[in-house]
Amino acid sequence: TVLVIDFGSQVTQLIARRVREAGVYSEIVPFQSAGEAFERLKPKGVILSGGPASVLDENAPSAPPIVFEAGLPILGICYGQQTTCLQLGGMVEGGHAAEFGRAFVEIHEPSTLYEGIWSVGERHQVWMSHGDRVTRLPEGFAVRATSPNAPFAVATDEDRRIYTTMFHPEVYHTPDGAALLKRFVVDICGCTADWTMAAFRDEAIAKVRAQVGDGRVICGLSGGVDSSVVAVLLHEAIGEQLTCIFVDHGLMRLNEAEEVVGLFRDHYNIPLVHVDAADTFIDALTGESDPETKRKTIGRLFIEVFEEEAKKIGGADFLAQGTLYPDVIESVSFTGGPSVTIKSHHNVGGLPERMNMKLVEPLRELFKDEVRALGRELGLPEAFVGRHPFPGPGLAIRCPGGVSREKLDILRQADAIYLDEIRKAGLYDAIWQAFAVLLPVQTVGVMGDGRTYEFVCGLRAVTSVDGMTADFFHFDMEFLGRVSARIVNEVRGINRVVYDVTSKPPGTIEWE
Ligand code: XMP
Repeated sequence: TVLVIDFGSQVTQLIARRVREAGVYSEIVPFQSAGEAFERLKPKGVILSGGPASVLDENAPSAPPIVFEAGLPILGICYGQQTTCLQLGGMVEGGHAAEFGRAFVEIHEPSTLYEGIWSVGERHQVWMSHGDRVTRLPEGFAVRATSPNAPFAVATDEDRRIYTTMFHPEVYHTPDGAALLKRFVVDICGCTADWTMAAFRDEAIAKVRAQVGDGRVICGLSGGVDSSVVAVLLHEAIGEQLTCIFVDHGLMRLNEAEEVVGLFRDHYNIPLVHVDAADTFIDALTGESDPETKRKTIGRLFIEVFEEEAKKIGGADFLAQGTLYPDVIESVSFTGGPSVTIKSHHNVGGLPERMNMKLVEPLRELFKDEVRALGRELGLPEAFVGRHPFPGPGLAIRCPGGVSREKLDILRQADAIYLDEIRKAGLYDAIWQAFAVLLPVQTVGVMGDGRTYEFVCGLRAVTSVDGMTADFFHFDMEFLGRVSARIVNEVRGINRVVYDVTSKPPGTIEWE
């Protein structure tokens, strides 16, 4: 085990993720309880995370002294570097607020930390956090690498195996970061790389059992990967103590509602309440074209319908949710600047308090691809596990300008053709998300001998790692031509197809 002491950085979970990728188990604990966790876990090494505070503040967070006294390998990242230096007798001076940026480090001295990865004289890209700075190193330490703005980019005490970096090895923009963290946990700390998703599954099941006891749990099922994985995991953990509620808002893709019911109720035998609330949702949305109002209306109705059903079931103590790690940090801006709401995501926020339920969130530490791996581990069919993300408000936000039953029907057909062609072309897994959008614009066309005046269908496909940024997918024109021909020929109501070549930013993935 590696102990990760969290000083509140937005990217601490990424440290844990990289350590997991290296096949090693780690536990993140807040700095306040790090001493106790250290005694309990008997870790083979410790990683000190970054954090927003300044070590110069009064009551600044610090690591428990035992961490430095135990003689174990330590890796201090950013704030972790500063507190390590300060706690071991060095000096830190104030700078400006923490901010991320690309930088290049130059390697001056060898270090066990990057042996076999970086060599003396080389320059490497890293993602640096600027804030307070170390100005004098503790005894035994020496600078190993610098960057123009960071004279202490890497400073280590090789004898005591204490390594500190001013950059963040855990983020994607430090290309060798994963290798550095692996080097630390496997080679330096000596942890065996045998941690797997199977182990996570067993731990997650044990944790759920411990949290829930003999209580009753309800879980909102949407047919998406996250809630599907939560449902199956919980069913395995607590069996009949779980009831799923599937609020069918009538905004799903073609045949999707039937597939959800078929899999969970018929195949898995999970108690499932299927609420057909299509009329409620579509009536409320009729005539509404403002994206935020649509989103809020759907969010509100979802909670109302869900709550009503939950009350009917009665006596549930817990609400299970497929919250993932990116949802936890979602609204927090990566650069530390103020964040604005681009789109209000809908979830069952507020519901647990209103109904006096506690939350069960077994996926809270995971990223999407890890959830997929866990789904496979749980034996969920590939069609569910590998499914593209689908937004809570469903097709409503893919009908800009207002929703009607007729438009939804048209959209569903076009979307199904598009996805069918993508699957046939073997491109489904190469794409993060692909979908059709029905534009509220009619244009003139000609079919046979007649004039047509019908809707425009927009096609969207993007690649992405996490949904935060995205590139439009580069289909070949043959493919797009085939999809266009099929949609125009097979779907009544569409006579023109366009492809969206906008990346995110400046576009967003969904059109609303
Ligand atoms: P945007 O459109 O903001 O989408 O670039 C990023 C990712 O989030 C999904 N998305 C949502 N997911 N509820 C959800 O559960 C929502 O309200 C919502 N809006 C967007 C979107 O499909 C993409 O994967």
